[in-house]
Amino acid sequence: MAVPYKHEPFTDFSFEENVQEFKKALNQVKKELGKEYDLVIGGKKVTTEEKIISVNPANISEVVGTVSKASKDLAEKAMQVADKTFQTWKKWDPEVRAEILFKAAAIVRRRKHEFSAYLVYEAGKPWNEADADTAEAIDFLEYYGRQMIELAKGYPVESRKIENNRLSYIPLGVGVVISPWNFAFAIMAGMTSAALVAGNTVLLKPASTTPVVAAKFIEVLEEAGLPAGVVNFIPGSGSEVGDYLVDHPKTRFISFTGSKEVGIRIYERAAKVQEGQIWLKRVVAEMGGKDTIVVDNQADLDLAAESIVKSAFGFSGQKCSACSRAVIHEDVYDDVLEKAIKLTKKLTVGDPIENTSMGPVNDQAAFDKVMSYIDIGKEEGMLVTGGKGDNSKGYFIEPTIFSGVDAHARLMQEEIFGPVVAFCKAKTFDHALEIANNTDYGLTGAVITNNRAHIEKAKQEFYVGNLYFNRGCTGAIVGYHPFGGFNMSGTDSKAGGPDYLLLFTQAKLLSEQL
Ligand code: NAD
Ligand code: ALA
Repeated sequence: MAVPYKHEPFTDFSFEENVQEFKKALNQVKKELGKEYDLVIGGKKVTTEEKIISVNPANISEVVGTVSKASKDLAEKAMQVADKTFQTWKKWDPEVRAEILFKAAAIVRRRKHEFSAYLVYEAGKPWNEADADTAEAIDFLEYYGRQMIELAKGYPVESRKIENNRLSYIPLGVGVVISPWNFAFAIMAGMTSAALVAGNTVLLKPASTTPVVAAKFIEVLEEAGLPAGVVNFIPGSGSEVGDYLVDHPKTRFISFTGSKEVGIRIYERAAKVQEGQIWLKRVVAEMGGKDTIVVDNQADLDLAAESIVKSAFGFSGQKCSACSRAVIHEDVYDDVLEKAIKLTKKLTVGDPIENTSMGPVNDQAAFDKVMSYIDIGKEEGMLVTGGKGDNSKGYFIEPTIFSGVDAHARLMQEEIFGPVVAFCKAKTFDHALEIANNTDYGLTGAVITNNRAHIEKAKQEFYVGNLYFNRGCTGAIVGYHPFGGFNMSGTDSKAGGPDYLLLFTQAKLLSEQL
């Protein structure tokens, strides 16, 4: 029996020994950059002519890896294999399925810095962010393994003298897992492992800018003993392979994490029942955020500024949970702004291999989008720090604060997904909550206050899936802070929570007359 779950500790880079170990991993991985990776269908490697070239966003002349690209035909082949494999995989003992996850976690733990180094090169993550991404991937494997062992026991239902009743949870079928680039390891591994440990087979389509770390994870699953055909690796174009599989009549469920636009598209397409389809597809869709930190007038203002800066600029604001709106009581607005500017000016931006505070944004499209919002911000508010970008070598953008932004401005409403935060003044605490709730999204939020009544009010009225008090709004930990949002942030499937695996199962009641 597995020991009780505890989250994977983060590496403390204030110890020189850890710094040296991490540098060693970065050097080792650098030697491996540029390798080729294949699709994996039914355990067999498939090489295609067409490739996805994964580049380092901090150094765009550096190729991280070249990955084969699935066509519709190969996606179809993978579907046939996954469909067939489901007939056997669904019968595997759930405890054995969990053991495979534990083994995978142990393999990743042994190679932790290697995986984090890949995240530095492929996703442009600073060391601490890469380390946290890898730790979260390990956590998902450990946590979902344990959750499956519990779920296999079923939920208790009443029996009468004349009958024996049991409620059990059985797998669904073939799932299409579509993952984002921003938690290129953790979210990809979390969605995949939840689906497979519950007894489903998977078609994994990772994000096109981060397929190498996903290919490495496939190698780990194989080493951990996962049978061929349970997870099939099919990187490819979202609109081509994604649409094809979302529409496919044999797709039983889709587990998606990404933008609101793509999430809505998937949700709508999946609702259409195709010829030959004998179920309603299940869609688990976790989408964007426009997350707010509210600062009250009775609050620790240093904590407020630290929380805003950390949540806004960690991984260059490229988290669905990132603070992109600071809504501050007018009594303390100037103080918090001044403190936040001071902290922001200390942040270093540059190649994360040097362990800068911030690395690049994801790609040229992200760079252009964020820079266009900085232009919008100049119209809608006052640029008080940052604002410049440089894409000559990598996609670097300064941490940027706009002050005096109206609650309904585009900067306050639209997901920017970059290092830009809008400061907005509120007249009262109630007014601050009203502004915090005024978007289509509802993912994370935080309130910095020493007023107990205001904490209680926010608990009732601040409408987000993950609400934090006297801390930032990023950094949910698997098993401790189940993660998922309201409204256009998604289906509120709580990743890393005790009811997550239910989403990948269906309940079957067994009643035997005695
Ligand atoms: P994205 O929507 O552009 O892409 C996500 C995935 O969908 C990728 O694998 C992409 O190739 C695929 N895709 C694109 N078009 C598709 C289609 N037509 N059919 C099927 N799949 C398709 O998102 P992204 O840029 O990779 O990630 C950033 C977004 O993800 C942000 O909006 C962020 O807030 C969100 N996100 C949400 C959470 C959460 O838990 N709520 C976590 C991380 C990221
Ligand atoms: N789970 C990630 C966080 O909480 C997105 O920041």
